[in-house]
Amino acid sequence: MFRIGITGALLLAALSGARAETAAERGFYLVNTIMACGNCHSPRDAEGRTISDKALSGGLKFTTPAFVATAPNITPDVETGIGGWSDAEIKRALVEGLRPDHGRLAGVPLAAIMPANFYRALLPDDLDAIIAYLRSIKPVRNEVQEPVYKLPVHRDAYPDAEAGFDKAMLGDPVRRGAYLVTIGHCMECHSAWSRGVSDFKNGLGRGGRVFPAREGSPEGTPPSVAANITADPAAGIGAWSDAEIARAITHGIARDGRPLKPPMAYAFYAGLKDADLADIIAYLRTVPPLQ
Ligand code: HEC
Ligand code: HEC
Repeated sequence: MFRIGITGALLLAALSGARAETAAERGFYLVNTIMACGNCHSPRDAEGRTISDKALSGGLKFTTPAFVATAPNITPDVETGIGGWSDAEIKRALVEGLRPDHGRLAGVPLAAIMPANFYRALLPDDLDAIIAYLRSIKPVRNEVQEPVYKLPVHRDAYPDAEAGFDKAMLGDPVRRGAYLVTIGHCMECHSAWSRGVSDFKNGLGRGGRVFPAREGSPEGTPPSVAANITADPAAGIGAWSDAEIARAITHGIARDGRPLKPPMAYAFYAGLKDADLADIIAYLRTVPPLQ
């Protein structure tokens, strides 16, 4: 009797541990790890850390030749956040980069810094999960500065996002890694880039994009240059071990031990599940070598 009782308890514990994630849990994971929405959308303290009770209530201001835009409040606050938006409207902002036809800046497209060209790859369940999570967070009142647009919005088509993914493809670890790298918009920073245009066709993963120092950033963010993350053994990460690549992504430590600079979202990627990290690395190993 006693033994059956223990076994039963263990079995129950195992079952509850193995229960399927809810949509909001999946959304929490996507938003706070691979998609790192808060890297742009959350306000920071003097040390550059996210202010946790104000997470996602509006964050960085981006100044480019095409626009000046601040990542808005995406908490469910009705007046200053997205609490008044329908699910379809939030989806449209994420995957098409378009605002709703009502409210603040009705119908005006979002600046290209919001990576909708990558998010269009999101599987329907993941899109629903992100919305379920965004609806579940605490509404925070915070109005961000109005954007200024100087040039028409230009988003580069990302080949894997255009081709799309389906659940069956994600059975293959390399394609699953490609999906995560797409929704993580890794190659937006890491591909050849010139005057606002990315060259995903000839420069995928080649690096070289320069991120200027952030003016007015509390931690005095230094300028940085995106690394070559192709499989090239000399210029890229082809000769790195899996553990070295994993450490760079999740802890911001280069192969030689040097701390890696922002804007890559190391602290968010630290929460990646081991299996997801392994698939991301499996995909990176297939990125054609470029010098
Ligand atoms: C690289 C920075 C960046 C990342 C990463 C990012 N966003 Fe954005 N997002 C922005 C900026 C900047 C804007 C505003 C653009 C403008 O004003 O034209 C924006 C706009 C939005 C809007 C429209 C809100 C409004 O009031 O107009 C939503 C919704 C949104 N983002 C959700 C998300 C979610 C969810 C994620 C993660 C899955 C995410 N964003 C990731 C920078 C980013
Ligand atoms: C917002 C821009 C940005 C995004 C998004 C980004 N990175 Fe980076 N990444 C950088 C920059 C900049 C560096 C170099 C930092 C330095 O040298 O101090 C870097 C460094 C790296 C390195 C270390 C390479 C080396 O030679 O030191 C790896 C590996 C890497 N990134 C992989 C990824 C992966 C995988 C993703 C997506 C999950 C990603 N990055 C997303 C900007 C970005």
